[in-house]
Amino acid sequence: MIASDGNASGGPKAARVPALNYADIGKLPSIVLLHSFPADGRIWAGVAGILSQSFRVVTPNLHGFGKNPPASKVSIAEMAADVAGLIHELGIGPCAIAGLSMGGYVAQQIARDHAAVIDRLILVDTKAAADNTAGRDARDATAALAIEHGSAAVFERMLPMLLGPDASPAVVEAARAIAQSQSPLTIAAASRAMRDREDFSAFLPSLTIPVHLIFGEYDATMPPDAARALQATLPSATLAFIGGAGHLSPLEKPADVAAAISSALISTLT
Ligand code: MLT
Repeated sequence: MIASDGNASGGPKAARVPALNYADIGKLPSIVLLHSFPADGRIWAGVAGILSQSFRVVTPNLHGFGKNPPASKVSIAEMAADVAGLIHELGIGPCAIAGLSMGGYVAQQIARDHAAVIDRLILVDTKAAADNTAGRDARDATAALAIEHGSAAVFERMLPMLLGPDASPAVVEAARAIAQSQSPLTIAAASRAMRDREDFSAFLPSLTIPVHLIFGEYDATMPPDAARALQATLPSATLAFIGGAGHLSPLEKPADVAAAISSALISTLT
C-alpha cells in the first residue's frame, strides 16, 4: 500500500484525534520512524524506501514540523501523544518505533506514556538522559537564534556536529534544505520542549519490550562511548554502529541504517 503525505485529520471521524502530517508506505508489520531536530520525516526517506519492501513504514512530521501548522508551544509529551494518536488512527499498534535523536526522546516518552502502541523500541543517535543546566541554557539560546535569525542560522550553528566524514555535498545540502524549510517558531518551541524533557535513564531498563540502539560511528553529539554506556544500562539491548556516519545516520547511510533496523526487527519477530 502506498499513501504518501496523508493526514490523520481527514474526515469527520478522524477529526477527534490529533492532526499529524505523515507518509505511509509498504505492508505490515509496521514501523513508525520519528525524525530529528530541526527536520521532518524526509530525514528518513531513504531508509523508509528500503524498509517498505518488507514493512509498512509511517514517517510522521512531529508537531509543528514539515507540513504541519507551525507550533509556538509544544512538549515532548504532546509530540508523543500525537504519534500514539496517529498509531491508533491507522490501527497499526502495537508496532515498532524508531526515533532519531529528538525522535528518540519522543519514542521513549511513548514507551513510558503510551505503552500499548509500541512493541519494539529502536533508539538512533539519541540518549535517555535529560539536559543539564548548560544544556538547558543552550536550548534557550537556540530558541532565541531561531526567532531572531531564522531556521538557516540554527542549522549552520548545528552543522559541525551533524555529519560524519563520509557525508557528500549532496547529503549536506539535503540536511540543510530540510532544516531551512522548518518554521523558526516551531524550532524555538521544540528547542524549549527538549530543554524541558524528562530523564528516561531510570525508566529504560524497566522496559520489557526489545530495545535496539543504532549509532553513527562518528556521531559527535551522541558519541560511541555514550552509546556503549547506554547499552550497559540495558542488558538485553542490541547495539549497532553505522560505519562512517555522523549524527544524521539515516540521511547519511540509509542502506546501512535500514539493514540495522531490518535485522533488529527480524530478530524479534515471532
Ligand atoms: C537532534 O538531532 O534531534 C538534536 O541533536 C537533538 C538534541 O539537540 O538533543
